[in-house]
Amino acid sequence: MSSDTQTYLNFIDGQWVPSASGELFENRSPANIDDVIGRFQKSHAEDVVRAVEAAEAAFHEWRLVPAPRRAEILYRAAQIFTERKDKYAHDMTREMGKVLGETGGDVQEAIDMSQLMAGEGRRMYGQTVPSELRNKFAMSVRQPIGVCGVITAWNFPIAVPSWKILPALVCGNTVVFKPAEEAPLSGINVVKTLVDAGLPRGVVNLVTSDGPGAGAPMLSDPGVGVVSFTGSTETGRAINLACAGTFKKVHLEMGGKNVIMVMDDARLDLAVDGAIWGGFGTTGQRCTAASRVIVHEKVYAQFIDRFVARAKALRVGDGLDPNTEMGPSISETQLNKVMEYVEIGQREGATLATGGHRMTSGGYAKGYFLEPTIFTDVSPTMRIAREEIFGPVVSVIPCGSLDQAIAIANDVEYGLSASIYTQDIDRAFAAMRDVYTGLFYVNAPTIGAEVHLPFGGTKATGNGHREAGIAALDVFSEWKSIYVDFSGKLQRAQMDIEEI
Ligand code: UN1
Repeated sequence: MSSDTQTYLNFIDGQWVPSASGELFENRSPANIDDVIGRFQKSHAEDVVRAVEAAEAAFHEWRLVPAPRRAEILYRAAQIFTERKDKYAHDMTREMGKVLGETGGDVQEAIDMSQLMAGEGRRMYGQTVPSELRNKFAMSVRQPIGVCGVITAWNFPIAVPSWKILPALVCGNTVVFKPAEEAPLSGINVVKTLVDAGLPRGVVNLVTSDGPGAGAPMLSDPGVGVVSFTGSTETGRAINLACAGTFKKVHLEMGGKNVIMVMDDARLDLAVDGAIWGGFGTTGQRCTAASRVIVHEKVYAQFIDRFVARAKALRVGDGLDPNTEMGPSISETQLNKVMEYVEIGQREGATLATGGHRMTSGGYAKGYFLEPTIFTDVSPTMRIAREEIFGPVVSVIPCGSLDQAIAIANDVEYGLSASIYTQDIDRAFAAMRDVYTGLFYVNAPTIGAEVHLPFGGTKATGNGHREAGIAALDVFSEWKSIYVDFSGKLQRAQMDIEEI
């Protein structure tokens, strides 16, 4: 590592500071391990405690700042994200590998979310209802919760933190943010934007580290009121359990085994386009990735021919190269996990129609590159059809009818996103109703959720909450119901009413 490698700091109580232990970790590009992104603070419980204290102290003031004023800062943040979009996208591609077009889209989600949540500063609708009694008002207003712990994954390292931090802020909460250790620079870029937009001291704090270092201490800290997490189902389960003791509100956004259903009346080229983008976009490393494609047997052979040909032609490479269509996997560990599934699929008897190898020649040798991989003749009971792989691997499953496709679609642990390709509106609506997921697409792939609608999933994908859209306010606020009696006498509710 060269001596000019930049060292990045934590952000606590309005200051960029080193971790208490002074320990560091380095991060390298998954496309080229010689490219060192920087050194980051390896934080521990002590640092988290300081960050939570700063956030608690700042909360007393911030909660009283009128929401439209808080929103002005978010509007400025949208402006700054826009100005820095190219730089942040470049940083992001370097540190986590997805192609520049996608990282620009990631920053765009933060711009969109800043604007959406800034708008909420002038809405944040509550409820007013008539009272049962005379001369009395009844209403319910949203109240901030306090300190929000935000723990995010590396695959959408500016978008997803924005989905959490911006609604948290507009509701009047303060934040302690731990970005993924694979993409800390993007986390820092989010915080820099908010600081430059004028966020007061202590309102957002950032601690970098791995999960045990800075995630776990947040979960046990009594000062944290709500934890919002995006990542694996395994980690989400551990977070849920760890937060139970202190009754923290927990919002979890976890794994998926999303499905595209291709009916016999589908426009096949459109369906192939969708399966390519849904399956191999972000190198398949999206919680919404289309890792299963269920195809009607009448068009199965045709679909596979075209799908495989398109996958073979995908240009894999460094995301910084404008010709690249698919970047690397995030790490050696992740790549090995994907390779393990390639073996599992073959052992289970699926046909490896294309891909399945690590790419190691020439420039590929320095990164974690995998061929776009398609398994065909997959049966719904195989592990490759049931478990989240988080890589460029798609399992194609034949089906004989819409009913069968829906049954297969639903027969997995997860429930994030599903899609149908058909020209029959009856089939589209039936599938929309009967597939048990949080997102559903018609004639479009499983990815591409927009920030102004609720985002999240059923079953082992989530824990009943949704983020983004107005639903985000429900995660980061709680209701307070208020009764104002101006009758000047004791009125007894829930007593038989004597007079009308
Ligand atoms: C994720 O993979 O964690 O709908 C989020 C999509 C993106 C968000 C994905 N807008 O695929």
